[in-house]
Parts: sequence; C-alpha cells; structure tokens
Amino acid sequence: MASTLNCIGLFLLLGLALVPKSQAQQCTAVDEDALLVFKGDFYCNDINNPSIPCPLDSWVPGTDCCQWSGIQCDASHRVISILLSAYFRQPMTFQITRAAEPAAFGRSLPRLTQLQDLDFRFISLNTYLPPAWGSITKLRTLNLYASSIYGEIPREYGKLSELTSFTIDTLAPGLFGFGLSGQAGIPRELCKLSKLKTFVMRYHPNLSGGIPNCIDGWRSIEDFQFFNGGDENGRDFSLKQPAATGLTGVLPASLGNLKNLRVLNLAANSFGGVIPTSLGSLTSLQTIDLAMNRLTGKIPVEFGNLKNLTILRLYKNRLYAEIPTSLGNSKALEVLDLGSNGLYGPIPDRMYNLPKVRLLRLDDNRFWGPLPRGDYLGRDLSIQLVMNVSWNFLDGPLNFRQLPKNIAELRMSTQNGRMAFTGLSPTISVLQSLRVLDLSQNQLTGKLPSTFNDMPNLQEVNLSINDFEGQVPNRLKVINADLSGNPRLVM
Ligand SMILES: *[C@@H]1O[C@H](CO)[C@@H](O)[C@H](O)[C@H]1NC(C)=O
Ligand SMILES: *[C@@H]1O[C@H](CO)[C@@H](O)[C@H](O)[C@H]1NC(C)=O
Ligand SMILES: *[C@@H]1O[C@H](CO)[C@@H](O)[C@H](O)[C@H]1NC(C)=O
Ligand SMILES: *[C@@H]1O[C@H](CO)[C@@H](O)[C@H](O)[C@H]1NC(C)=O
Repeated sequence: MASTLNCIGLFLLLGLALVPKSQAQQCTAVDEDALLVFKGDFYCNDINNPSIPCPLDSWVPGTDCCQWSGIQCDASHRVISILLSAYFRQPMTFQITRAAEPAAFGRSLPRLTQLQDLDFRFISLNTYLPPAWGSITKLRTLNLYASSIYGEIPREYGKLSELTSFTIDTLAPGLFGFGLSGQAGIPRELCKLSKLKTFVMRYHPNLSGGIPNCIDGWRSIEDFQFFNGGDENGRDFSLKQPAATGLTGVLPASLGNLKNLRVLNLAANSFGGVIPTSLGSLTSLQTIDLAMNRLTGKIPVEFGNLKNLTILRLYKNRLYAEIPTSLGNSKALEVLDLGSNGLYGPIPDRMYNLPKVRLLRLDDNRFWGPLPRGDYLGRDLSIQLVMNVSWNFLDGPLNFRQLPKNIAELRMSTQNGRMAFTGLSPTISVLQSLRVLDLSQNQLTGKLPSTFNDMPNLQEVNLSINDFEGQVPNRLKVINADLSGNPRLVM
C-alpha cells in the first residue's frame, strides 16, 4: 500500500519536472535560498500527532517559493510577506519550534530585500528578538503573537524606517513565556520610527525602563499600547508580580505632540508623576487607559476638550484632587473608571450626566455629599448603566428619582467607619431597569418598601448590615436577597 502511494508520488514529481519551467514566473534564487535557511531554523512537527501536515512542508527546494505556505510575493516575484501560523496544545506540543541557536535564528531574513510583513502566531521561538532584523529595510509590519519572545527591544529596530505596525502579544503569560525583559524600556533609537501607526506590547511585566522624551518622533502613531493587565470593564487583573514593575518613570509631556493618537493604553505599569496636561490637546483620542500605575496629582481639566473620548480609565492610581467639572463636556464617554484613588469633594452634577456612559466607577475614593442631582432627559434607555459609588463618604437621603433611569447595576455599599445613606424610599421602583442593587453596610432604617414587588428585573439585592424592620417584600424573598445583619426584620 505504502509503496503504491510512493510510486504515485514519484510519477507526480516526474510529471512536475517535465512541465517546462518559466524562470520569470519563479521566485528569485536569493529569496528561495534565504527562506530555505530560515526553514532550517525550525523544527516542524506535532510529537503527539505526526500525521498533521506542517506549513513548512511545502517549502521544497526547486519549487516556486511564491507558492509556499505563508509566503506572498509581489508582481516581480519577490517575497514581500511571511505569515507563519502554527498552534499550541497542552501539554507542550508546539507544531513549530525554534531549532537554530538564538544567536543564529532568523539571520537569513535581511537577505529578503523586499520583505514587508512578518507575522508569527503560536510558534515557540523562545528567543530574544534578532537584532539583525533591524536590517530588513522595507519591513512595514512585525507582529508576533504567543511566540515566547524575551529580552529587550533591539535598538537596531530604530533603522526600520518603513515600520508602521509593531506588535508583541504574549497572549497568555506563563504558557507563552513571560514576555520581554530587561531595563531598557522603549529604546530612544525607536523614536526615529516616524511612520509607526501601531505599537502594541501586551503582557511584558518584566520589561522595566521608561518612555523616552523623544517619543514625539512617532509622528504617525494612532494606537500606542503597552499594558500588563486590566480591561475596559473595570476588572482588576494585573500581571505585575512583586519583582516585576512593568514600565517605569514619568509620562513624558511630549506624548501631547502625537496628534493622531486614538488609543493610549499604558495600564498596569509603574508610571509615577502626574498625568501630562498636554494629553488634553489630542482631540483624536478615544481611549486613555492609565489604570494601575502610581500616578499622582489631578485629572487634567483639559480632558474636557476630548470630544471623542469614549474610555477613560484611571483606576487604582494615587490621584488626589477634585474631579474637574469640565469632564462633563466629554459627551462621548462610555466608560469612566476613576475607582480606587484619593479623589475627593462632591461628585459634579455635569460629569454625572454623561449621556452615553455604561460603566461609571467612582468607588473607593473620598467623595462626600449627596449623590448629584441629574438631568437625565434624552438618556438612551437601551444603554444598561453599571454604577459603583461604594466606599466613599457620600451621605444624605436616597432620592431614586434623581438617578438615571437606565441604571441596571447600582452599588452603594460603605465601609466600616465611613458615612452612610439614610432612608430607602418607595420611589426605588422608578428604576425599572435595575437588576443588581447593593446597599449593604449603610445606616438604612424603617420598613422595606413594598414597591420592590413592582421590580420584575431585579435579580441580586444586598441590603445586609443595615437596620431595617418589619416584613420582607415577597420579591426580595423570591430572589433570595442578602438581608443578614438586620435583626429587626421579620423573615
Ligand atoms: C518574569 O516574571 C515572572 C513572574 O512575573 C517570573 O516568574 C519570571 O521568572 C520572570 N522572568 C524573567 C526572565 O525575569
Ligand atoms: C471624532 O469622531 C468623529 C466621528 O467618528 C469623526 O468624524 C471626527 O473626525 C473625530 N474627531 C477627531 C478630532 O478625531
Ligand atoms: C464596587 O466597589 C467596591 C469598592 O471599591 C469593590 O470592592 C467592588 O468589588 C466593586 N464591585 C463591582 C461589581 O464593581
Ligand atoms: C453583601 O454585602 C456584604 C458587605 O458589603 C458582603 O460581605 C456580602 O458578601 C454580600 N452578600 C452577597 C450575597 O454578596
């Protein structure tokens, strides 16, 4: 059987050999040779399932390299793109792994003088970035996902004057290495990359060092991300370990010269100092995420100029100031997360009326006074608002008519020793979208209003550690509300 197949294979090969070769239609010998050397830099097989074909199997000497798997050529049959995508399966089966010594790995690529795009996915490179790739003069994109890269960003990459996109995403740290490491941060030499539009480094907590002042050399940058945790829904995960700081230093004011910037995400690093006010002049900005750093001072008043800003996350820093009322001008805001800082003062009414906001986190600060009086006319009821103002020094009666009608989740719990709301009015049922209500650890007294029975969307209620009395409305029994710590309630 096997030999029959071999015979057929032989005939096919002979058949191919008989087809007259048109040299003009083939990739050049230089490109072919460089790719074959590069193929030799890898092992390609799946030890658990050897029958699975390897993308590199098609890289056969003497055949047109423009037809090889993952290779693209231009009209003159020069190689312009390599996209190698393998896979990883636990336990530890990579289909493509590095074979060459790190010092020798990838050394043939600069010989591909027309190469523009390099994209590797799920390939166990387990090496530092080859400095030699700084000589791939036409390179436009260098994107590496889940490829176990370590070490610093080579200064030599400052020579990649055509580079528009540079991404290294560890994807799942631990499984795919621990990302870049060392103390060099973003090397000054990279400031020369004036065509760079996208710079995305995800999960490299072991790389410390700063952002150089010359960063405004990135005149084309639109998407600048270097983050080690967190996400826009406010969940708090940081991959920083005690020994790993992420990027350090201060945020250079020159960031304010990056006129095309739409996304700035530097979450879960160790930046200190203040937030540069110059960022407030970048009117294209849509996302500012500086959560989980050590930033001090205030939120720049100038952020109110950012009409297209949809995400502002400053969660878990050391900001100590009042919220600038100008933030109320940022009408596009959908996510505003200022939680876990030292922000104080009353919550400004204007800021509170943002029409598109769906996540509002002001929890774990020092805000005082009553909840602001809102004007919620024209609010889009299809937006389900999640609002957390827990752990502040807010107080006063709760007037639910003042709250946005589209609130789906309302958390106003307090902490021991902090001030608290009083009174729970029957007007609670005006909040017909409400699914989750947390009023635990306040000083709420009196009867639980029977209007809870008119709230069919309610799913999760926590009224524990208050001082309610009397009967429990049926709706709260049905959904098994947490009513513990109210000794005078009749269950
Ligand atoms: C990187 O950090 C991880 C945990 O944060 C640690 O286990 C690992 O040893 C570090 N690696 C290097 C090369 O510093
Ligand atoms: C703001 O967003 C609008 C709509 O997407 C867009 O047309 C406009 O150019 C943006 N403004 C800036 C300064 O980027
Ligand atoms: C609400 O804020 C409190 C205080 O910061 C925090 O402990 C809690 O996890 C937050 N809950 C949600 C669901 O955001
Ligand atoms: C209710 O809130 C208290 C105090 O904030 C908390 O300890 C408790 O776990 C919460 N109950 C539920 C069911 O989440």
